[in-house]
Formats: sequence, C-alpha cells, structure tokens
Amino acid sequence: MSIALAAEWLARARQVTVLTGAGVSAESGIPTFRGDGGYWRKLRVEELATPAAFTRDPKLVWEWYEERRQTVAQCAPNAGHRVLAAWEKRFPFFLLATQNVDGLHQAAGSVRVAPLHGDLWTLRCTAEGTERIDRRTPLPAIPPRCPACGALERPAIVWFGEPLPKEHWEEATQAAVVCDVLLVIGTSGVVQPAASLVDIALAHHARVIEINLRETALSDVVSASLQGPAATVLPALDRLLPPDT
Ligand code: OAD
Repeated sequence: MSIALAAEWLARARQVTVLTGAGVSAESGIPTFRGDGGYWRKLRVEELATPAAFTRDPKLVWEWYEERRQTVAQCAPNAGHRVLAAWEKRFPFFLLATQNVDGLHQAAGSVRVAPLHGDLWTLRCTAEGTERIDRRTPLPAIPPRCPACGALERPAIVWFGEPLPKEHWEEATQAAVVCDVLLVIGTSGVVQPAASLVDIALAHHARVIEINLRETALSDVVSASLQGPAATVLPALDRLLPPDT
C-alpha cells in the first residue's frame, strides 16, 4: 500500500482522528509493553498493571512505575509527536486519542488530546480518590502516601479490568464516528476498548491508516498499513500533503 494514497486520503480529509500507542514514543527512548524488551523483572504488563497486583504488592508495582517515570523524565518528543501536534492546526476537526501515559504528545504541543489510560505523573489517594501531580523522580518514598490522610497512593493510570475515563472515552468514540480518516499509530491493537475505535471508524466508512513497524492484530482490517518507524513515516506523510495555508 503506497504512502502516496494515504496522503491523498489525508489531504481530502476534514475530520481526522488519531489513536496512538507505545510505539509512537519508542524512538524517544521509551520501551513498549509487548514484544522485545516487553518484560520487567520477568513480569508482563498484565501482571503489574492490575488492581490485584497493587493490592498484593504496592511496592513492586510502584517500583515498576518509578522506573518508567525515571525513563520518561529523560525523554523528549520525537518527530512523530511533532507532526501530530502540527496536524491539530491543519485539519478543521482533529482529536488525538492516546493510550500513552508519558505526556509526550502534550510536551510536543498537542492540545486536542484524549488520554485514554491516564497520566504517569498524577497520583491518586486510594482512600479519598483525590489526585495530585508529582513529577519528582525518584519519588521520596515508595509506595507514596497521601499528604492529607496518609493512605496509600496509586498511579492515576487505568489498569486492566478498570473502565476508561468516561469523558475521554466518549470524546474518542464520537471522534471515531465522525472522522474521514483514523490513523492508528504504534499500537499492537490488542488492548480493549481502545482498539475498538478502529471498528467504530470502519463501521462509519472512514479510511483507517495504520503506521507500525510490523503487522499487528489490526493489519487485516485497516484500509492501509504503512510499515516503518512512526518518527519517519509521519514526517514523510506530512511532506506529501499540500502546503498548509
Ligand atoms: P504495545 O507494546 O502493545 O505495542 C507497541 C506497538 O508499537 C507494537 O505493535 C510495535 O510493533 C509498535 N512499534 C514499536 N516501535 C515502533 C515505532 N518506532 N514506530 C511505529 N510502531 C512501533 O503498546 P500499546 O499498544 O500502546 O496500558 O499497548 C496498549 C496498552 O497496553 C498500553 O496503553 C498499556 C498496556 O497495558 C496501560 O498501561 C494501562
């Protein structure tokens, strides 16, 4: 499938919706969850990012997040993030739904963002549900405790078995319904409900363009698969679009 045809679809689109996953941040130096290097201390993400894992061993779960926080703190947005930030101004309607919790889209300047899986820098009190942002790395104590009541704090991240933030999910599904093009970038497409945005967009006759290093669970159903690193393919697509006026 040629990148030129994908660029043609984009050039004609008025409404563009994007779904990103860990692959869009890979070239910034942040490890993805699955595939090579997808294990942490021999544990899979499905064994760490759950309420049960946190109840069993909050310190272990926090050590994993602490390591990711330290990695992300040293990383900067890449060319892929920057193209997506620029496209927000180019298309009359644009929404970037992301499964990433690293904040790199926002750091690149994206504002129209629906963070489906939460945020790595926000801590939530397990007793009161109050949230606070704490960007310190390392955190002074692991696991952290609520400054107000002393209860354990957890990362404000959506874990397996938990619902997505209602407002962001509704915004994302609505954007998948109305878009002309849905771009699906750097995600394995195995985590629901995020991956179902593809089915929603297809059911409403959008073109779905996947950008990924390799074939994924979604490759057979999308309208076009562009294989390559997001930080290369996105700028290449951008160069094929007519000048932004
Ligand atoms: P995965 O780790 O499952 O998949 C990353 C995808 O990115 C794979 O398909 C890779 O082939 C692709 N990839 C890697 N490097 C790339 C690059 N430079 N350019 C383009 N593609 C590249 O990550 P997600 O699909 O994001 O949830 O995982 C979904 C969710 O599972 C995450 O949000 C996380 C995890 O549980 C939570 O933490 C709540």
